[in-house]
Amino acid sequence: MTTARYTHGHHESVLRSHEWRTAENSAAYLLPHLEAGRSLLDVGSGPGTITVDFAQRLAPGPVRGVDASSDVVAKAVALAAERGVDNVEFAVGDAYALEAADASFDVVHAHQVLQHLERPVDALREFGRVAGPDGLVAVRDVDYEGTIWYPLLPALAEWLDLYVRVHRSSSGEPAAGRRLKSWARAAGLRDVASTASVWVFESPEDRAFWGGMWADRVVQSAFADRARAIGADDGQLERISDGWREWADHPDGWLLMPHGEILARGADSGRR
Ligand SMILES: C[S@@+](CC[C@H](N)C(=O)[O-])C[C@H]1O[C@@H](n2cnc3c(N)ncnc32)[C@H](O)[C@@H]1O
Repeated sequence: MTTARYTHGHHESVLRSHEWRTAENSAAYLLPHLEAGRSLLDVGSGPGTITVDFAQRLAPGPVRGVDASSDVVAKAVALAAERGVDNVEFAVGDAYALEAADASFDVVHAHQVLQHLERPVDALREFGRVAGPDGLVAVRDVDYEGTIWYPLLPALAEWLDLYVRVHRSSSGEPAAGRRLKSWARAAGLRDVASTASVWVFESPEDRAFWGGMWADRVVQSAFADRARAIGADDGQLERISDGWREWADHPDGWLLMPHGEILARGADSGRR
């Protein structure tokens, strides 16, 4: 099952970064295309913060989030109830085999999901089936290998090298952002428009959030177990964790993560 190999798992330090996400900071490229009353399927919806934002924008249109992990589905259900949003539902589901008819959603969206899949082209073909020829497929993924930062702390270079190797050893492609266009074309999607946007972390609050999250993640989450499995030792993980805290405390600290985005129409003939 794909979830068992999801690089990060769902440790609290991982969810901290997912729960920070909003439609504005993670799906700005899609927002001009969201009209009230339209339907949207969010694949790999995680704790649902972006999904619930979409539902508020699309109300009364129906929104559904699906994720391979029942634990995060439960969190997303609780979030929707807490925010009083009732045009959204969440369920366990598989990106490769969505329980939805051909051309049944106006928008099929996935954020930071394709990078974790072994067969991203198959998943995009499935998204295209559910969006249909008149529906939109909207996907955004980071490109870890393009991450840049300052100050040039050696521990952060060590983190990036280890991160990329851990991710590829689990499943998926950490430099997914630059590949989305080629994957969409290979999946037979039409009218593929590819854009890019960035996350920048630089304010004291950003640095405390992002640096603190990674300082915990490298020593505590499923990432740490996977790093040890490919030869990292506790000394290296502690060194990287200390590096993230040093970066977070540094007043000159700045970090940029590039993201690729695609907007495309589904395939003419649905499932091939
Ligand atoms: C990085 S998280 C992104 C969550 C959310 N889209 C966001 O950006 O906040 C990736 C999510 O994809 C889910 N996932 C991984 N493989 C999946 C699959 N084959 N089908 C559905 N969900 C999957 C994971 O369980 C995880 O919650």
